[in-house]
Amino acid sequence: MLITNIGELTTNVAAGDDRSGTRHDAAVLVDDGLIVWVGDAADAPAAEEIVDAGGRAVIPGFVDSHSHLVFGGDRASEFEARMAGQKYAAGGIRSTVAATRTASDDDLRERLQGFLAEMLAQGTTTVEIKSGYGLDVATEERLVRLAAEVTPEVTFLGAHVVPAEYADRGDDYVDLVIGPMLDACAPHAKWVDVFCETGAFTVEQSRRVLEAGIAKGLAPRVHASQLGPGAGIQLAIEVGAASVDHGTYLTETDIAALAASDTVLTLLPGVEFSTRQPYPDARRLIDAGVTVALACDTNPGSSFTSSMPFCIAVAVRDMGMTTAEAVWAATAGGAAALRRDDVGVIAAGMRADLVLLDAPTRVHLAYRPGVPLVAQVWKDGIARL
Ligand code: NIG
Ligand code: FE
Repeated sequence: MLITNIGELTTNVAAGDDRSGTRHDAAVLVDDGLIVWVGDAADAPAAEEIVDAGGRAVIPGFVDSHSHLVFGGDRASEFEARMAGQKYAAGGIRSTVAATRTASDDDLRERLQGFLAEMLAQGTTTVEIKSGYGLDVATEERLVRLAAEVTPEVTFLGAHVVPAEYADRGDDYVDLVIGPMLDACAPHAKWVDVFCETGAFTVEQSRRVLEAGIAKGLAPRVHASQLGPGAGIQLAIEVGAASVDHGTYLTETDIAALAASDTVLTLLPGVEFSTRQPYPDARRLIDAGVTVALACDTNPGSSFTSSMPFCIAVAVRDMGMTTAEAVWAATAGGAAALRRDDVGVIAAGMRADLVLLDAPTRVHLAYRPGVPLVAQVWKDGIARL
C-alpha cells in the first residue's frame, strides 16, 4: 500500500534542528505491516493499493505510555465535587478498588475493549496498561492477565495505594505486593510501577517494590511528584526507570537530575486538568534538556480522558510546548518511555502505525481542540477505521 499526496508528514526522523523530521508532498510505502519506504511523492514506487491523502497531514500513531484501563465503576460524582471546590486525594482509588473486585472478567474485558476502541478512533496505536485497582493477589492477577490480552505493555501496579484492609499496615501490604502478588502477576507483565507519594508509598517502600520487580525480570517505572514534591523522581532515576510519570511538582534538583539521566519524564495534562492542579512548565523542562513524553493516564479518578489530541492541545495551550514538540512527545516520546524502537517514528523498518488527520498540518491538533480530526488509523499496516 502506498499512502501518497501527504501534505505534511511528521516522521520523527530528526533532520537538523527539526526533531519532527517534517516532510512535504511525501509518500509512505507499507508492506506486510511494516513501513518499507518514505520519500517524496514524486519519487514513490508503484504499489497495488494507493491511498490518496489529499494533501492532508500524516503523523505516527500515538504511543500512550500511561493508562489504567481495567477497572469497575466510575467516579463522576467525585469529579463533580472537585469542580465545586473539593481537593483531589488519591484515597478515591479505594472506591474504584471496591467496584473492580466485584466486576466479572467479562465486564472488565468489555469495558477495556470500549476504551481501546475510543483510543484507536483518536489515533492511539500503542497503549500501556497498568493494574492497580485490585490490590489483592487474585484481582491484581486478573487485571494484568486481562491487560496482557490486548497489549504487550502491561504494568504491575500492586503498589498503587494501601488497600483499606491493610490500613496503617503499609509495610505488611508491601510484603504482600513483593511476595505472592508479584509471583502471580510477573508472568503477565513487562513493567513494575509504584505510586511514590505522601498518602501512597514512602521512598523506602517504593524502592523495595521496584527492586523486587526488577529481580523478577520486570523493568521499573514510577508515579511521582503528583501531589507535591518528593523523592520519587530521584528514586526513579536511581533504579534506571524508563519513565517517571506526573512531575506536577518538580524541584530544581529533580530537573537537573532528569536532564542528566536516561529516564523520560511523562507529563499527564489530563490529570492537572481534571484535578485543578498547576500545569508543569514543559517549556522549561525541555529547555533544560529533559526528555518529555505525553500520555493520557486514563483512569476514573484523576484523568478520565483517552484523547491524546486533547492532551496535545492542553500541552500547547498551557504548558508551553510547540505543537511539534507535543506531537513528538505523544509519539516518539511515548516510545522512549516504553523503550520501544519499533513505533513512534515513520521510517523504513518501523511498524506501519500511522494516523491520517483531516487537517493540512499537525498544528490543527491544538488549534482545533475537541474536534475529531483523525480520518484514518493504520495499525500494523491495516486500516482500522
Ligand atoms: O495516575 N497516581 C496514582 N494513580 C492514578 C490516579 C488513580 C485514581 O485516582 O483512581 C494516577 O493519577
Ligand atoms: Fe497513573
